[in-house]
Amino acid sequence: MVTFRLNGEEQTLDVDPSMPLLWAIRENLGLTGTKFGCGLAQCGACTVHVNGNAIRSCVTPVAAVQGGAVTTIEGLSSDEALHPLQQAWIDEQAPQCGYCQSGQIMSAAALLASNPNPDDEAIDQAMSGNICRCGMYQRIRKAIKRAASSEAVVGIFDPAAAQSATKEADHV
Ligand code: FES
Ligand code: FES
Repeated sequence: MVTFRLNGEEQTLDVDPSMPLLWAIRENLGLTGTKFGCGLAQCGACTVHVNGNAIRSCVTPVAAVQGGAVTTIEGLSSDEALHPLQQAWIDEQAPQCGYCQSGQIMSAAALLASNPNPDDEAIDQAMSGNICRCGMYQRIRKAIKRAASSEAVVGIFDPAAAQSATKEADHV
C-alpha cells in the first residue's frame, strides 16, 4: 500500500511500489493532464510537484511519495481562479499542440514559487529539462514573465503542499 496526498486529497493505492508515479496518477487515479513523453526523464512532459518540488513522475517510483504531497496540473489552481501561469499561458497563447504544456507549467510553477521574479537565465535553467517539439519556447518564456509580473503571483503557493504542511502542523 502507498498513501499520499494528491491535489490535497489523501489516496491509498494497492499497487507495485516500483510502479512509476506517472502510471499511478494516470491509470489508477484517472488524472490524465500529466503526460507520458519519453519515459526516461528527458522531456519533462510528466512533471508534477512532490512536496513543492518539480519532479519527473515517469522515473519516480510511487513508493517514493509515501506520506508526501503530490500536485498535478489539475490541482494547480483553485476552483475559483486559474493559477497566474495558466492565465498567462492563455494570454500569450503558449501552446501549439499542447502536449508538453502541463509539464512546462508545472516546472514554471515550481520556479515562481521559489523565485517570483526570475531573469532569463533563471527561467532557462529551470525550464531546460522541458522539451517542446513545437518550439514554443519564446512564448513560454513570455508567459512566465507575464505571470511573474502579475499581482496574483505574490503569495503564490502549491495548494497540495500547503495543505499537507497545515495538516502536519496540526499534528505537532
Ligand atoms: S515522460 Fe517523463 S521526462 Fe519524458
Ligand atoms: S506545444 Fe507541442 S510539444 Fe509543446
